[in-house]
Amino acid sequence: MAKTMTNISIQPVEKYYAVKEYYGKTLQGSQDLKTDACCTDTQIPQHIKNALADVHNEVLARYYGCGLVAPEELEARRILDLGSGSGRDCYVLSRLVGENGYVVGVDMTPEQLKVAEQYVDYHTQQYGYNKPNVEFKHGYIERLDELELADNSFDIIVSNCVINLSPDKEAVLREAYRVLKPGGEVYFSDVYADRRVPSVLVKDPVLYGECLSGALYWNDFLNLAKQIGFIEPRLVEDRPLKIDNPEIIALMGSIRCFSATYRLFKLPDLESGNEDYGQAVIYKGTISHHEQVFKLDKHHLIETGKVFPVCGNTYRMLHETRFKPHFEFIGNWKTHYGIFEGTPIPFDETQAREETTSDCC
Ligand SMILES: C[S@@+](CC[C@H](N)C(=O)[O-])C[C@H]1O[C@@H](n2cnc3c(N)ncnc32)[C@H](O)[C@@H]1O
Repeated sequence: MAKTMTNISIQPVEKYYAVKEYYGKTLQGSQDLKTDACCTDTQIPQHIKNALADVHNEVLARYYGCGLVAPEELEARRILDLGSGSGRDCYVLSRLVGENGYVVGVDMTPEQLKVAEQYVDYHTQQYGYNKPNVEFKHGYIERLDELELADNSFDIIVSNCVINLSPDKEAVLREAYRVLKPGGEVYFSDVYADRRVPSVLVKDPVLYGECLSGALYWNDFLNLAKQIGFIEPRLVEDRPLKIDNPEIIALMGSIRCFSATYRLFKLPDLESGNEDYGQAVIYKGTISHHEQVFKLDKHHLIETGKVFPVCGNTYRMLHETRFKPHFEFIGNWKTHYGIFEGTPIPFDETQAREETTSDCC
């Protein structure tokens, strides 16, 4: 039988309990973590650094996220944070959405929630708001209906190193899809594995609590997201996790884990492939803090003023979302020119074209 970190083995129904114990009692602060799975090393932009500087120290000390969940164009948006912990991301977002925006954090661990709730008034004052624009709800991210979160009610959903901890990831994505407005997006950081993690490791409370053994194999995640209705997940950034703890290295063996940020748009008209309709966009450079370049994802860095050819899906991600006012749109849907250039194709089209135009044999 494979070894585990402890001789305790958690069953699926006990995962909630084990995770609550881990984040509520075992960990007292970021320094107690055994890996860097729950530490963000992404370069933090200056405006986020400024917002972080105003977050209360106790909230910061109990931060366990693995990425940066601050998408662009947040003014006056309604945002939901799944697994908000001590509230660090909620308070940064509360500042970025401004007084006319609203942020809701959901978490199941009372100790973490208590820290978050304790500083609502502190941050309201710190930001000079007349009333709080952030609230925290005690509950499960698989059961948002129990928290009376309505269909189509959020512009953006964020989550930072949480979904890997859920025993029912499909329910989390289904509920996220339900509460998201059409054209909205889930923008979230999480941990993924390069293969399916054996169940004996999934049952280990420390490996699970450290956000390693609950991680989905990345291709299972992509298929699950598509099946729920998030037709084309876009990878924004990723990094391999550094694991220094010898016991954890031995247990994980050849399994490699990554922290990755994805954006999942709720756009039912997206196609399963990247199709070419001869369209292009021009970024106007009008999104605050992103005046030179807009990064839709790792492969779409759209420079201001430049005509940027796009596939039909990218066109929709910019035209049918909050990003629309910041772009000029060129083209229409009249002519389909085949698969978008650069997309891997199952056969060599160039050769096929040469063969059809060459002399008949
Ligand atoms: C790794 S911590 C991340 C916390 C926070 N996002 C941050 O960046 O500090 C995971 C958090 O997710 C919460 N959590 C895990 N599974 C959950 C679930 N199924 N429902 C609600 N909260 C959950 C835990 O209570 C814990 O606070």
